Amino acid sequence: MPSTQFNFKERYRYQNGFASYHESEAVEGALPVGANSPQKPPLGLYAEKLSGTAFTAPRHKNQQSWLYRILPSCGHSNFEARESSTFNTNPENKPWEEIHFIPNQLRWDPFDLDETVDWVHSLHLVAGAGDPTMKTGVGYFIYAAGKDMAANEAFYSADGDFLIVPQHGVLDIQTELGRLVVRPNEICVIPRGIRYRVTLPDGPVRGYILELYEGHFELPELGPIGSNCLANARDFQAPVADFDEDTNNSWTILAKFAGHLYAAKQDHTPFDVVAWHGLYYPYKYDLGRFNTMGSVSYDHPDPSIYTVLTCQSASPGTAIADFVIFPPRWLVAEDTFRPPWYHRNTMSEFMGLIHGQYDAKTGGGFQPAGASLHNVMSGHGPDASTHEKASNAELAPHKVGEGSMAFMFESCLMIGVTDWGLKKCQKVQEDYNAESWEPLKPHFKLKPGQKIDNGLKSIANGTEGDKAQVPHYT
Ligand SMILES: [Fe+2]
Repeated sequence: MPSTQFNFKERYRYQNGFASYHESEAVEGALPVGANSPQKPPLGLYAEKLSGTAFTAPRHKNQQSWLYRILPSCGHSNFEARESSTFNTNPENKPWEEIHFIPNQLRWDPFDLDETVDWVHSLHLVAGAGDPTMKTGVGYFIYAAGKDMAANEAFYSADGDFLIVPQHGVLDIQTELGRLVVRPNEICVIPRGIRYRVTLPDGPVRGYILELYEGHFELPELGPIGSNCLANARDFQAPVADFDEDTNNSWTILAKFAGHLYAAKQDHTPFDVVAWHGLYYPYKYDLGRFNTMGSVSYDHPDPSIYTVLTCQSASPGTAIADFVIFPPRWLVAEDTFRPPWYHRNTMSEFMGLIHGQYDAKTGGGFQPAGASLHNVMSGHGPDASTHEKASNAELAPHKVGEGSMAFMFESCLMIGVTDWGLKKCQKVQEDYNAESWEPLKPHFKLKPGQKIDNGLKSIANGTEGDKAQVPHYT
């Protein structure tokens, strides 16, 4: 099925295309023709540039937008610190004081819904690496909210781009550049600095966020796959311009800045952008449209084949963050152990489950709204019961993951876990290893008469030095 059938119907129109130069005007003639900053922009609007990269970033990386608005965004009071016990998005700039770097495999029970807070105060940093003040690294958040943001509030993060993965409930996101509805099985990206307000038209919400402190997401290279498949560019949707006219009411602008919350006042709405054009904008994507690739002969490819979006480090092919999904798909490989193999990776893997059951675990401990973290070089793989089942399964074509959507935030960085993630949330499963892999039984058995050659035979016969080497062929 090439798209998800959502219970909550779409409310808005969009412009289609990933990394496409979009332009949109809510009033005809609001966009200047040709010039970006004419002496008098049309309709008495102010021109404001919003840059998502350095002006001088290479052309293929450059992301800027021009906004034409009723009042510029700089008209506000000083920002003042507004921390609260429910706002927890550190790691500040001293991650060693805030974050626990541990090699244990970790798994979390489903995180609780919290109907007492709004979007801003629902953000809990579970794990991460790096530091937003150095524009390096990532933060992984759980959000769980039950209230709309106040009528005259808007939020932005100066720390990075939010990749939002809803697990429960619907987000209606009013941004400076237009509106988006985001439902479970959709994702959206709100780039650094863009102001927005989240309301909940279908009750409480819960989900996951990857905040990218450095760079922006792009589509992965396709290599020999060719020019289509995986996430196709045309399926990404950006909002159309939509504005309010309000210069009478008091508004609060909430800023996430170096992991802390600040607030400023202004007497005009931040949602007054009548027209915009550029490459820097929020967008969303239906995971049901992902065109999944896989083996049609034997073995299964690395899970990188399921990458939706990536942000590459300076090292070629090495991601600061990959967003990877495990959609429903057919497995047809012959003579192949079909679940993921056991592995230890130089990359770290944080997984979540939107709905259904993940096909690599049958033990029931990895549930929707839960999570797991397999850090750098921490071994993992199918649990014992999955291994047993898959080793003896009839290898007919069959579909896995029906009605399910698991995902992974994969990073080349070593991921630390916050105090909240490790202790305060009280969701860590202490028996993850004991339940998953300690029950694995050895099946190793020599055939009758088979001899062991471990390289010591020559020494036992009295030869030494180079002659003791086991013959090898290069
Ligand atoms: Fe893994």
